[in-house]
Parts: sequence; C-alpha cells; structure tokens
Amino acid sequence: MSTITTRHFLQSTGIVLAGLMLAACGKQEPPAPSAAASAPAAAPAPAAKVYVVGTDAAYAPFESQNEKGEIVGFDIDVVKAVAKNAGIEVKFLNTPWEGIFNSVAQGDRDLLVSAITITPERKQTLDFSEPYFDAQQLIAVRKDSKITKFDDLKNLKVGVQNGTTGDEVITKLQGKSTPNVKRFESTPLALKEMESGGVDAVVADNGVVVHYVNNNPDSKFKTLTDSSFASEHYGIAVKKGNAELLEKINKGVAGIKADGTYNQIYTQYFGSAPAAAPAPAAAASK
Ligand code: ARG
Repeated sequence: MSTITTRHFLQSTGIVLAGLMLAACGKQEPPAPSAAASAPAAAPAPAAKVYVVGTDAAYAPFESQNEKGEIVGFDIDVVKAVAKNAGIEVKFLNTPWEGIFNSVAQGDRDLLVSAITITPERKQTLDFSEPYFDAQQLIAVRKDSKITKFDDLKNLKVGVQNGTTGDEVITKLQGKSTPNVKRFESTPLALKEMESGGVDAVVADNGVVVHYVNNNPDSKFKTLTDSSFASEHYGIAVKKGNAELLEKINKGVAGIKADGTYNQIYTQYFGSAPAAAPAPAAAASK
C-alpha cells in the first residue's frame, strides 16, 4: 500500500512540478540563443541574439505604452526599422529615465532609444549612433500666463523631468542651488503639476510638449519657443566601446534614411517628411 501511495505521491508531485516548470517557462524571457534547437524546423535558425532596448515609455509620441501595455512610438518604429535593416533582433523594455544610462553601462540593456539628446557629457559614458532626430526645448505655460520668454522663468517655479536637457537649461538659467526647479520622474508628471498650479512652466522637448498640449486641450496650455534654445539631436545609445553593435545600428540608420523608410515613419508621426516639416513648435495648439 505504502508503495502505491508513494508512487501516487511522486506522480502527483511530478505533475505539480511539471506544472510549476511550465508556469515558470511561461514567464521567462524569449529563449536565449541556446534554445535555438527548439525553433521551428523550417527556420534556418541562426542562434540570433535578441538585443534588449531600454526606453522610458512615458514620452509620447516618441515612446509610450498603449492600452494593451505595448511600447509604441516614433523611436520604437525607427529602431524596429533600423534592426530590420541591420539584420538584428530587438525587444523593448520599459526603463525609467532615472537609471536608464546605468542600465546600459551595467549590461542590463544593449541599446537605449528614448529621445536621448546627444551631449558631450553623455558621450563620456555612452556611445551614440548618428543623429536620427532634431529637437529643441519648448516651454509650456498655462494659456492665461504672462510669461513670454525663457528669461521670464528666472524666478518662477518650473517643472522638468529630472536629468533631462530641459533640466539642464533651466538649472543654468536659475543657478544650481535654485529651489524653484521642480524635478519630476517623467515629463507628463511635470505637466500634470502645472495643471494643478504647482509650477508656472514646464520645459521639455518640443515634440513631447506639442503632443501633450494638442492631446490635452482641457489642460489649457500654450507653448513658447525661445531663440536661446540650442538645437539638439537624438541618438541611439550603446555601451561605451560597443563598436560592433554601434556599427550595425549606424548601418541601419543610414539604410532606413536612404530607402525612404525613415521618412515614412516620420510622416506617420509628424504629418510631413522631415526636410519639409515645420519645427514641431510651429504646430503648437491655439
Ligand atoms: N531629449 C531630452 C534629453 O535627452 C529628454 C529625453 C527624455 N526621454 C524620455 N523618454 N523620457 O535629456
């Protein structure tokens, strides 16, 4: 009797274990290269590496999460097209801006796409692709605001996303020890704060500010540009020294610019092809 019981026990435990293992597998990341053996026989199955792309998906229209939780946006489409052109596989992981640069330095992410402005400071710790997008800072204020130019923000409360180029420009204007720069984890949070009157202005990338203002008419914001804002260029980042991957990315960037794919994506998001496009600032809502 006891043997049967034991066998029963073993069998049911086995089933439970198998179930657990299946459940565990279900949660796992897509198979590592070594799992290529289980790929469908039809596929030539070169053990393709899947490059992990980190992105702070709270920056529409560049990167955001849709209702289904999928990461979507201009940057995402660009990197997918770049990857296809370069013959590599990518997957995207939502990665908070805070710590995003570290994630690639530590090897948790292979690539970053996140509307990242190429700056001399960042170039010390990361390598960037050729620029794939031109941007500029833009100020958002409430429609009834008296603010007309960047200099007016000198002694006002200004919201920014912590550690962005928007943070840099306003910190430079107000001075490092200013108590008036309010730094948020994300740009939408800074904009929300302005709705409730917590800050007088928000400084962030033009494309994102314009997108927010146009899509949130109830928040009653307007935008202001300023001639003091430098032009910025977004790049795709890799770990410093990862020349092999960077070369693939640059090849892909050049490829999609040459074959029209880039213009197609650009037009889809910004309404017209880049050369002919007015700066996003010009499209600001009334
Ligand atoms: N372009 C700005 C910067 O590089 C802001 C980028 C923020 N991107 C984001 N996905 N939150 O500092």
